[in-house]
Amino acid sequence: MTQRELWQRTHYCGELRKEHIEQEVVLKGWVHSRRDHGGVIFVDLRDREGLVQVVFNPEIHEAPHGEVRKVRDEYVLEVKGKVRARPDDAANPNLATGEVEVVGAELRILNESKALPFSLNKEIDVGEDVRLKYRYLDLRREEMQSYFRLRHNVCLSVRNFLSGQGFLEVETPMLTKSTPEGARDYLVPSRVSPKKFYALPQSPQLFKQILMVSGYDRYFQIVKCFRDEDLRADRQPEFTQIDIEMSFIEQDDLLQVMEQMVAEIFRETKGIELSLPFPKMSYREAMDKYGVDNPDTRFGLEINDATKLLSEVEFPPFKKAVENGGSIRGINIAGCASFSRRELDELADYVQGEGGGGLYWVKCTDQGAQSPIGKHLPEGAMDALLAHFKAGAGDLILMVAEGGDKALPILGKLRLKMADRAGIIDPKAYAFVWITEFPLLEYDQQEKRYTAVHHPFTAPMDEDLELLAGDPGAARAKAHDLVLNGNEIGGGSIRIHRRDVQNRIFEMLGIGPEESLIKFGFLLEALEYGAPPHGGIAFGLDRIVMLLSGAKSIRDIIAFPKTNRAICLMTDAPSEVDEGQLRELSIKLI
Ligand code: AMO
Repeated sequence: MTQRELWQRTHYCGELRKEHIEQEVVLKGWVHSRRDHGGVIFVDLRDREGLVQVVFNPEIHEAPHGEVRKVRDEYVLEVKGKVRARPDDAANPNLATGEVEVVGAELRILNESKALPFSLNKEIDVGEDVRLKYRYLDLRREEMQSYFRLRHNVCLSVRNFLSGQGFLEVETPMLTKSTPEGARDYLVPSRVSPKKFYALPQSPQLFKQILMVSGYDRYFQIVKCFRDEDLRADRQPEFTQIDIEMSFIEQDDLLQVMEQMVAEIFRETKGIELSLPFPKMSYREAMDKYGVDNPDTRFGLEINDATKLLSEVEFPPFKKAVENGGSIRGINIAGCASFSRRELDELADYVQGEGGGGLYWVKCTDQGAQSPIGKHLPEGAMDALLAHFKAGAGDLILMVAEGGDKALPILGKLRLKMADRAGIIDPKAYAFVWITEFPLLEYDQQEKRYTAVHHPFTAPMDEDLELLAGDPGAARAKAHDLVLNGNEIGGGSIRIHRRDVQNRIFEMLGIGPEESLIKFGFLLEALEYGAPPHGGIAFGLDRIVMLLSGAKSIRDIIAFPKTNRAICLMTDAPSEVDEGQLRELSIKLI
């Protein structure tokens, strides 16, 4: 046998079990830790599949001992040895390989390692910046490796499911033209066409629609998208979509296939059986009950509208809210009547921080209701209020009174905060809901024009077509978002497939004929060559993997993510470039 054959890996470290006892194995991996028990040296050797204990005992095998003394954490080794059972009192039930160990007979050091900037054990002892700078080390951690295995499995299950349903994966360009998903574009200068730029795709929206015109019928793509927007725990400048488009379907057909795909992902990667169909909720209902269009429906705590009940009360903040076309709304939190004055003041500060005028509370105690607004209420009004909120002893009602629609988002946030405080969120629950009937357009007060709520290619609901002429703001769209535990994990719509309707929508958005031809001429033209009715959706793969894994941020489930300032701390991108490169691109820095 050649050296190469002699040292061919036989097993992954993490694979070894009782059934391997007495087998000669060759392992390759990293030194997770090394313990010297005066002569006998224990090395925990780690690879992708986990770690196993290797014992180097000079009384059994003399040879490797000189080498093993040199070994430090994260050295790269190959080890030959025989698997044996650990004595019962030395078995480690917390380790998958804990019933066995390898008696090290030969050892080769393949590479050394400097002392690490942080420990690779479960408890992270440094800030995220250090982890991101040394991402290659961070990615060695077991938790991180489990995330990327999960991510791989999610993609695999998506590809298998969609292929089984007749979808074809088609790639679309990265160097392309700006698409209007509402964020800023990342631009790429063209060398051969001076003063011209490509945009990196915010999504493959127009290409997937074109593929429908080309008769591909069912398209999907697991694809990178780029958006220059403010970053948060669930937003990265480059992220991955599971992008989907189908022809000859109605909204319900699409949602049905899509929830089957989501159910398949959960079944295959987590063994969780979801109950289908997912509930549906209109945008209006979501806003009224939860104050947001991405409601967390794992718990109740719904918002209640008390405007009718309180509009006549002689209390200036209530009067003012009603005069300003607003509302008086609140939530009832069970078991929080014991909140102290200080806790209530803190909540009031929170509401003000969110732009609210004030917080009005009612404590329901065994002795009756206590509230600073009590004295403003006429006879019987407090009882009516308690009945309206279905409040009983121990409950705390929190209300805000705001002009316009302002009360809803404030209460939406307060609802989440209170649910968290009251400990009523089941961390193991998966609550899905489709949000539909979104408004088609929204009025931009600054720009004094309508903008598309989803994107300009979304079809209006048939029954609302007439509204476009008189009251465009009231028209609803054939749009849908999928929300999981308060996270928007997907969004899409049925598209406009007729040029006259598309022209009309562009007009409403203040995009004139000339501008629409420059920006989307190719789509408008394509719509004139037999475009089938079609629609689709895109899921945020990163968000799905984050929620499945329990990671706190999508940065954890992206191998090489960027910071909140869109910087890659490992490579130091973005970075300055040579004068010469700029000259070639006809670019002058200002
Ligand atoms: P939308 O803009 O709603 O729709 O995006 C679809 C889904 O992508 C995810 N997502 C993000 N994830 C991480 N970081 C980001 N910056 C980010 N932005 C969006 C969300 C979101 O639900 N072309 C349309 C889809 C369609 O109409 O078919 C689109 O891109 O989970």
